[in-house]
Amino acid sequence: MKPLIGVDYYPEHWDESLWEADAEMMKSIGVKVVRMAEFAWCKIQPYEHAFDLDWLDRAIEAFSKREIKIILCTPTNCPPLWVYEKYPETLQTQRDGQKIATGIRGHRCYSSKKYRELCTHVIRRMVERYKNNNAVIAWQIDNEVEANECCCEECTARFRAYLKKKYDTLDNINQAYGNIVWSGEYSSWNQIKPPLGDYNEGWYNPAYMLDWKRFCKQNAADFVRFQANLIKSIAPDTSVTTNTWFCGNAPDYYDMFSDLDFVSYDNYPVARIPKDENALYSHAFHLDLMRGMKDGKSFCIMEQLSGGTGCWTPMGRSPLTGMIQGYSMQAIAHGADMVLHFRWRSARKGAEMFWHGLLDHDGKPNSRLAEFEELCKEVSALSDDLEGTRIENQCAIVYSSDSLDALNLQPQSNGYHYFNQLKSFHDALTSLGVGCDFIDEKSDLSKYKLLIAPALFITNSDTAKRIHELAEKGGHVILTNRCGVKDEVNGCLDTPLPCDFADMTGCTVDEYDPLGYDIEKVAVPFCNGTFDANMWSESLTLNTASEIAHYEQGFLDKKAAATQNDFGKGKVYYIGFCSPQRAFYISLMRYVLTSAGISFVKGLPRGVEITQRKKDGLKLTFVFNNSEQKVKVATDKIKCELEPFEMKILKQRI
Ligand code: GLA
Ligand code: ZN
Repeated sequence: MKPLIGVDYYPEHWDESLWEADAEMMKSIGVKVVRMAEFAWCKIQPYEHAFDLDWLDRAIEAFSKREIKIILCTPTNCPPLWVYEKYPETLQTQRDGQKIATGIRGHRCYSSKKYRELCTHVIRRMVERYKNNNAVIAWQIDNEVEANECCCEECTARFRAYLKKKYDTLDNINQAYGNIVWSGEYSSWNQIKPPLGDYNEGWYNPAYMLDWKRFCKQNAADFVRFQANLIKSIAPDTSVTTNTWFCGNAPDYYDMFSDLDFVSYDNYPVARIPKDENALYSHAFHLDLMRGMKDGKSFCIMEQLSGGTGCWTPMGRSPLTGMIQGYSMQAIAHGADMVLHFRWRSARKGAEMFWHGLLDHDGKPNSRLAEFEELCKEVSALSDDLEGTRIENQCAIVYSSDSLDALNLQPQSNGYHYFNQLKSFHDALTSLGVGCDFIDEKSDLSKYKLLIAPALFITNSDTAKRIHELAEKGGHVILTNRCGVKDEVNGCLDTPLPCDFADMTGCTVDEYDPLGYDIEKVAVPFCNGTFDANMWSESLTLNTASEIAHYEQGFLDKKAAATQNDFGKGKVYYIGFCSPQRAFYISLMRYVLTSAGISFVKGLPRGVEITQRKKDGLKLTFVFNNSEQKVKVATDKIKCELEPFEMKILKQRI
């Protein structure tokens, strides 16, 4: 993908007389790509049998004649109201059995055959119209597809079919779920329903709930696939993506993007850095997660922070000077190619009028636009060097969609969140200037020297096998508390924890205590330090492992809290607690990286990130100051001063 800077534009929100002026202004400041038509279905198809794309032709022309490329969207997130009026089955059904109320956006049911038929009509019209337009470089499917939990009849039928395919018989389901508990055994397929009712999710059978979540994710991915196949059947050579974010009901990102050409992420970093030294604020975490979703191949920011955000929440602070340019460059440093800013103009109408774009409501050039112009110039100058570069890392963190859901369904202690477990390690690596990939359980693990699998709660037998193989062949592996707790159907295993990993860790869990926000002291001799454990503590029985940390007080006093074990040609670390202090994870990572022979940077000031993109003959090192203070970087290899949010790029021929 060619590195390009662009904006999100909604021609249908503005008087046509503005389009030319906007396009001219964009051209003059160096905008190279514009995304449009995202929510414009009712303008494209105002009535069932009336289509109008003439206006879109003119909008596209306004940009393409100025050599600005276009990303077009399928407008399917927002069907026109006539769709819901005439075909109410296209609306999602809530857990209380009622149809979702219209009036905002995203009301559609992915399973509805009628809805898919209507999507097909509008998408077909659009793709056929623009398939030979060279300005149109890609298609974005829908908007922020989430794993919606629709309880309509069509979704119910699909859920039953999903279970039938997976388990074949009701007996198998009853066995797998343990439906005997609370007399929940199914005696007919009709008894299988979505989780109806206003209950806390934790009251349902967790095996059933995990399958329900898996189904909803698969259904969302299937909807994306349906659109991608349709687009490609008409325009086989085009590129297709969908824009995503880290939402509560996250899709299985790896599955959703598997048949798409590139990943797109909507990136809204917070506009103030937390004062708390231990706060896990890193935006790099999200960027690395996104890059990992297609094995680091291609990744774009479809919506990037452009101004103060807010609408349905009180407005947040305006971005500080340097953030508009700096956070785009940060995304590029973590592997993004295109970065499109949301949005060109702040809306004057509609719910999002205070989610600010580059231009305020008055449309006058401002300091944000000036910074954006700098960004356009910077990326344009860097474009040839950047093109074709890749990020290659020796460390990876496993992201398990199943463990995320299972831990959300059954929170292990007050405040224990799966993402925080991943973040703690990622944050420590970032602070040591060590790049890290996030990989799916199905990804190739063998290319990594260090694999970290925090809280791998659900044990997928194939994943467990491949983690074993990695260690046997000489890899270093870090496992933590709450690894290996559950089987694939979300039931508890009956061997000593960490169950299927106990041979690798060389230790077993003796007792555990879900600490929540309470604290236990842990002594960590390898760094001469004492840290607090929180969220979870467990005492470990050493089998072949040796202790690397122990509790210092409380009822676990003197018992082992973390271990290391030689396994095959590799080494396996097991951490039986979590810590609220970054310093613990940083010390741990220094210790493990040294043993794994992975170099790290000493003395990086807080907030400074170092990443690299490489291709044959060229290495680009990005040094970014993600802090509100001016900093001096003085490491073995890098000496420079950086303003807040400034990026310096060092070029090296290799
Ligand atoms: C998301 C959506 C956009 C818009 C922005 C700002 O990322 O994709 O349509 O709603 O948030 O709120
Ligand atoms: Zn439905």
